[in-house]
Amino acid sequence: KNKKQIAIIGSGAWASVIARIIARNVLILKRFHPIVKMFVYDEIINNKKLSDIINETHENVKYAPGYIFTKNLKAIPDLVECVKFADILVFVVPRQYVENTCKTIVGNVKPNAVAVSLTKGFEVRPGGSLWLISHIITKLLNIKCHVFMGANLAPEVAAEQKICRSTLGCTHKTWGKWLKEIFETDHLKINVVDDEDTVEACGALKNIVATAVGLMDGLAQKNHYKEATMRLGFIEMIKFVDIFYPGGKLSTFFESCGIEDLIVTSYGGRNSKCAKEMVVTGKKLAQIEEEMLKGQKLQGPDTASQVCTMLRAHKMTHKFPFFTKVHAVCNGDEPPDSLKEYVEKNMSKK
Ligand code: 13P
Repeated sequence: KNKKQIAIIGSGAWASVIARIIARNVLILKRFHPIVKMFVYDEIINNKKLSDIINETHENVKYAPGYIFTKNLKAIPDLVECVKFADILVFVVPRQYVENTCKTIVGNVKPNAVAVSLTKGFEVRPGGSLWLISHIITKLLNIKCHVFMGANLAPEVAAEQKICRSTLGCTHKTWGKWLKEIFETDHLKINVVDDEDTVEACGALKNIVATAVGLMDGLAQKNHYKEATMRLGFIEMIKFVDIFYPGGKLSTFFESCGIEDLIVTSYGGRNSKCAKEMVVTGKKLAQIEEEMLKGQKLQGPDTASQVCTMLRAHKMTHKFPFFTKVHAVCNGDEPPDSLKEYVEKNMSKK
């Protein structure tokens, strides 16, 4: 009684890794309800529903094979059922599904529940304004939404062979402490900062940069060009936050969610791997998502597209040539070589 219940919304790779951590943590944290629910969008695998497989074998055989959940993690195929008693809603669905998810559960969420978003991206709303995902969740559900972003590649965090760091953006002191408790392990260390919008914007924007690094990799550029790409991208990230989320702190860019996530994702993430594949094979993004991500969505090209739609609507494209270039290449409007030329031009600038 009165123990805080946690619902995880999502069951892809990152959602499963995080669910496994949370379910294990609540077994020793008295403040939280020992049953953790995870919404599973059901798909049929070998004639069986994924949710049934998870509840029987305690393993997400499709998206996190080899990692066993503690038995207190319950897969729930019904979204409303999953969230209706929850005090904490952990969003880990691709940004393309956030709005519909909120519309499905609105009216069934406890009024004093709190959300925390691990979803990376933005969404352009009618009229051309660009919304952070946490702001969409807050607007649609009328609850507070904090954010959790960092240098975390799902396979590395799952393997628990080395220490990773992450950043929790939370303006509320007590919730900051409680949320840190559910995510933290000996291998995942968390720093709490109050600069929520910058944390989230970094998490989203760095995927554009990682995509660019993958494109450069596909062109078989010398290593140094990749670092130059990261530098140019990082500069635009800072400028973007300065203009659109004024009041953010420069120090947040030096948390795990900033420069560290940028480097980790650029070298080891799926965004850069898939972008490289796009250049090397000439295949379309949708085919690569199907072949390399089991149908999951790549966030970098989508984030570039959302950002550039907003920039165009506000006639600000010229202020963000790097993001604009990455979007043009991902969209097939320009060849990958034009990104290389852009980087080269900037490297030889006086
Ligand atoms: P991927 O490029 O592997 O999807 O990782 C993205 C990410 O957000 C890591 O923090």
